[in-house]
Amino acid sequence: MNDLPTRLAAKDIATDAFKAVMRNLAGAVSIVTASHGGVRAGLTATSVTALSAEPPTVIVCVNRAASAWPTIEAAGHFGINVLAARHRPIADRFAGRGGIKGEARFAGASWGPLVTGAPTLDGALAVIDCETEEALERHSHTILIGRIKAIRHATAEGALLYWRGVYGQIEDELQAGAGI
Ligand SMILES: Cc1cc2nc3c(=O)[nH]c(=O)nc-3n(C[C@H](O)[C@H](O)[C@H](O)COP(=O)(O)O)c2cc1C
Repeated sequence: MNDLPTRLAAKDIATDAFKAVMRNLAGAVSIVTASHGGVRAGLTATSVTALSAEPPTVIVCVNRAASAWPTIEAAGHFGINVLAARHRPIADRFAGRGGIKGEARFAGASWGPLVTGAPTLDGALAVIDCETEEALERHSHTILIGRIKAIRHATAEGALLYWRGVYGQIEDELQAGAGI
C-alpha cells in the first residue's frame, strides 16, 4: 500500500486534478494544419509525439470540438509545424486567443504546401507533412496517426516550449549543444 496523501484512486481523479498534474509536462509547441476544398484550418498543439521510425509515423491528439477539426478530418492529411521561440504570437493565434478563427489565423506569416497540401510555415523549426493513416476516436479527442510524406528542417533556432501554463524557450547552453 502506498500511504502518500497525494495518491488517489483513478475514480477519484477530478478534471482539475488531471489538469494540475498535466501542467507539469513540458511540451514543444506545434501548429497542426490542414487544407480541404480551399479552406485552411489549424490549431496549436503540444500532443505531437513520434510513433515509429519504420515506417515513419507520428501521432497527435485533436479535440473534435476544435474549430479546425472538420477540415483536418475531411482533408485526410495534416501538417505539423514545430515552432521556434519567436513564433509565440502564432501559437496564440492558433490557440484561438482573441477569438481568431479559420483563415484569419494564417495572416501575418508565410504558409505554403509541401506534398499533401497541408499548410506549412516558412521558418518553422521543423515541418512534418503527413497523410492520415488512422484516426482513433477516444473520449473528446481523436488520436491521429500520420504517415510522414515529407519533412523539412528550416533553422537552428531554439524551440518554443509550454510548461505550467506559460511559454518559454530553450536555454542557450542547451541550444548550443543541440545538433539538428
Ligand atoms: C500550448 C497549447 C497546447 C495545446 N495542445 C492541444 C492539443 O494537443 N490538442 C488539442 O486538441 N488542442 C490543443 N490546444 C488547444 C487548441 O489549440 C485550441 O483549443 C484551439 O485552437 C482553439 O479552439 P477553437 O479553434 O475551437 O477556437 C492547445 C492549446 C495550447 C495553448
